[in-house]
Amino acid sequence: MTGATGFIGSNLIRDLCQTTDHAFSIVKRERSDTSALSDILDKIKVYTLDPAADNIYEILAQEKPDMIIHLATLFLGSHSRAQVPLLVESNILFPTKLLDAMASSGVRKFINTGSFSEHWNCKTEYDPVNLYSSTKRALEDILCYYVNAHHIKAITLKLFDTYGPHDPRPKIFSILKKGLREDSPIDLSPGQQTIDFLYIEDVVEAYKKAIEFLGKDTDVSYETVFIGSGQSHTIREVVSIFQEVAGRKINVNWGARSYREREIMIAIADIRKADDLLAWRPRFSLKQGLSKMMTEEKIR
Ligand SMILES: NC(=O)c1ccc[n+]([C@@H]2O[C@H](COP(=O)([O-])OP(=O)(O)OC[C@H]3O[C@@H](n4cnc5c(N)ncnc54)[C@H](OP(=O)(O)O)[C@@H]3O)[C@@H](O)[C@H]2O)c1
Repeated sequence: MTGATGFIGSNLIRDLCQTTDHAFSIVKRERSDTSALSDILDKIKVYTLDPAADNIYEILAQEKPDMIIHLATLFLGSHSRAQVPLLVESNILFPTKLLDAMASSGVRKFINTGSFSEHWNCKTEYDPVNLYSSTKRALEDILCYYVNAHHIKAITLKLFDTYGPHDPRPKIFSILKKGLREDSPIDLSPGQQTIDFLYIEDVVEAYKKAIEFLGKDTDVSYETVFIGSGQSHTIREVVSIFQEVAGRKINVNWGARSYREREIMIAIADIRKADDLLAWRPRFSLKQGLSKMMTEEKIR
């Protein structure tokens, strides 16, 4: 697995170690903080990438995994000049080397992670919201070469927004939690944009279904599916559900922040294909997910 030190990766590999008897290995960077994995480090093999990640060829030749779950990414909502090479390195160069190493060491199954933001406002056609989204799409195009030319069997899970307990990422719920903790006003956008939030346990389940899918002997070589809750809420509704579950009010300055350029105003996942192909359906509504998160984090 790549990206195992990240939010989704650490939840996924922990669940897989606890619920399956597969053997797992991860690749991490020299400076990666593995504290999110401290309770399972004795159950997994850990490989450290050299800076240029060229040792990925040796790692795969030695480990010969049956399947690779690719979650590593650099997510940036907007980018500076200096960040362009970082986005390309993390989201295109590293995973391309990974695919190339798979091709040369006979590793044939790949679960890729894409993003709903490749389709601004849920358009059917490709319309990337930002440079990050287009790097995710670029990797999918490169993946198609390895699927067609090197018979790699792959699936891309295009995730919508995710959340869950102990999420270190600077997302809306960390802002709302701060508002609760500090009883201080928080500045938000006007809040009419809709968002599809998927609880982490449903995300983990989607990856487990994808592992099953690639494990089956079918002649499918490549598929992509959207993974989200299929439910959409405006940010205003999200805040009121959050307050209802917390049992406390948050002081919000609506409109103190203006909408971003290319703000995603519509996000709702079409999960029919995920159901047909993977027999996957989300189990937790936003209210249920938030109450699980707040209970786990002792917020209420
Ligand atoms: N909102 C969402 O959650 C959402 C929505 C759509 C798609 N996704 C996709 O879901 C996946 C997981 O997202 P996440 O939010 O869990 O990520 P995250 O918490 O930001 O973690 C990113 C992971 O990628 C690793 N990484 C970054 N650059 C790397 C590189 N050059 N070489 C090796 N490893 C590298 C990081 O390692 P370090 O520990 O070394 O930094 C970390 O393990 C990503 O592919 C993301 O695009 C997420």
